This record gives sequence, structure tokens and C-alpha cells, in this order.
Amino acid sequence: MAEVSSCNTNSLPPSTQRLLGKVALITGGANGIGESIVRTFHKHGAKVCLVDINDEASQRVCHSLGGDENICYLHCDVTKEDDVKRAVDFTVDKFGTLDIIVNNAGCIDPPFTDIRNVDSSDLEKVLDVNVKGVFYGMKHAARIMIPLKKGSIISLCSIASVMAGISPHGYTASKHAILGLTKNVAAELGQYGIRVNCVSPYAVPTDFSMGHLPKDERTDDAIAGFLAFAGKIANLQGVILTAEDVANAVVFLASDEARYISAENLVIDGGFASVNHSLRTFK
Ligand SMILES: NC(=O)c1ccc[n+]([C@@H]2O[C@H](COP(=O)([O-])OP(=O)(O)OC[C@H]3O[C@@H](n4cnc5c(N)ncnc54)[C@H](O)[C@@H]3O)[C@@H](O)[C@H]2O)c1
Repeated sequence: MAEVSSCNTNSLPPSTQRLLGKVALITGGANGIGESIVRTFHKHGAKVCLVDINDEASQRVCHSLGGDENICYLHCDVTKEDDVKRAVDFTVDKFGTLDIIVNNAGCIDPPFTDIRNVDSSDLEKVLDVNVKGVFYGMKHAARIMIPLKKGSIISLCSIASVMAGISPHGYTASKHAILGLTKNVAAELGQYGIRVNCVSPYAVPTDFSMGHLPKDERTDDAIAGFLAFAGKIANLQGVILTAEDVANAVVFLASDEARYISAENLVIDGGFASVNHSLRTFK
């Protein structure tokens, strides 16, 4: 694992920083929602260790934040327990403790139309990253947090954890598993004052959600088409979900304002998963 750089800050005034001085490890922070969580945590005064398998994009995020001592990067593949263990130890060595882990790294299996055609290697990959990766993050964060008798563990789940038929089987299974792990680990760690929660976003246009298209076809028009479709089937109208909206929900769960919230799945979907518009009662 290669350590890359230490970089800098575009912070809010300290009086408005909600994570001032807290130490956070964020997986999959090089792109998409994870990148937004890194930037928002940094803005709110947290000391952040970003880990990812994409070294180049991770360095870009670090450098764009400027060059202070409050952010660092380490290469880490969350499917490898040793990598996750090292990332947790690296964070503690660098910043002195671990208050928050955000298990964000994730992937999705390819779209398919028939269960008989599902490739077991695709299934294994999505379960490895989404389930084992989250479990290793919880396990090694707990190793540090239990003796401290405090901490906040937050994982990226999905509306696929509460709603069927919107994503491939492997992804849906993995997100149900993250919800189960969140509740079970919250049940174990509550005795130590450690809170364990997850967030479940609706669709955000990232590499991940545009992954059904080859990279050179992820044009502005394709993203606009994605947003138009997501907007049309959404419950809440007039607002488009962004990565920053998800990051703000994670900041809330990580902050002391959420000090009595644990075993919760914070669904960020404008009511989508709760409403069945096929009945068209209010249309
Ligand atoms: N984008 C959405 O619409 C959406 C909706 C609901 C939930 N989510 C969840 O949010 C999380 C982030 O998704 P995103 O849309 O930002 O995806 P993304 O593809 O834009 O970013 C994922 C990041 O994870 C990293 N990553 C992948 N495998 C890794 C591994 N083995 N080890 C370490 N890092 C790894 C990637 O390099 C990338 O930087 C995922 O858990 C995803 O399931 C996304």
C-alpha cells in the first residue's frame, strides 16, 4: 500500500464546523459520493484519511483540498482484510485516534434480464466489495473504538436495501446484508457507546450509477437522460438528489447532533421507497 500525500483545507469558520477535530477514515473517497463525503468532512473540520484503489483520483482529491495536515491518502482494497487493518492503523498513527469510519466503497453487478445468465464471478465481486469490505471496516474500527468507548460507524447502503426490483440481484443482496450488519453490529457495540448506522440514497449520477454505459458514452446528454428518468419516477419533485445531499446526511450521523441515533437506516430518497405511485391516488 502506497502512502500518497498530505494536503489542505477549504474549511468553514470553526464555529460552524460540525466535525471539528474528529478523525475519520473514508473508504472509496476518490470519486462520486465518497469524494463528496471527504470534501464535506474536511470542510467541517474533520481530519480525514481517504482510502481507495484509485491512486490517481485520490491524489487529485487530496491536492485539490490544498495541502494541510488534515487529509491524507492510503491505497487500500477493502476486499483485503490486511489492507483495511493497515488503513485503520495508519489513520490512528497519523491522527492519534479514530472517531468515525465511513464504509463507502462499493460496486454493482452488470445489468441482466435473466437469473440463469448471472455469472458467479460478478456475484462474488459485488459481495466481496460491498459486504466483506464493509464488514472489515466495521471490525477494525471496532478494534480501536471499543477501548475508547465511543465512535461512529456509517456505511453506504442503498434504497435497494428496502425495495426490490430496482437493481441486480447481487447488489440488492449486498445492500440487504449491509443493513443487517449495521443492526447486528449496533446491537453488539451499543454497550461501548459506539453508534452504527447506514444511509440509503436514491439515484445519484456517478461512475457507479452510469456504469451500465461504456466510459466514452457517459456524456452530458446521457447524464441528463439519467437525471430526467430518475426525476420522472421520483416521489419528491423539483429537487435532484446530489452527492452533497448524501454527504450532508453522513455528516449529521457522524456529528454529536446524532449522539442517540444508532442501528438506523437513514433513507435519502425523497419518499421514493415509501410511496407506490402506480396507484396514482394523488396524480
Ligand atoms: N450513485 C448512486 O446512485 C448510489 C445510490 C445508492 C447507494 N450508492 C452507494 O454509494 C457508494 C458510493 O457509490 P458511488 O456512486 O459514489 O460510486 P463510484 O463508483 O463513483 O465510487 C466508488 C469508489 O469506490 C472505490 N472502490 C471500488 N472498489 C473498491 C475497493 N475494492 N477498495 C477500495 N475502494 C474501492 C472506487 O475506486 C471509487 O472511488 C456505494 O456503496 C454505492 O453502492 C450509490
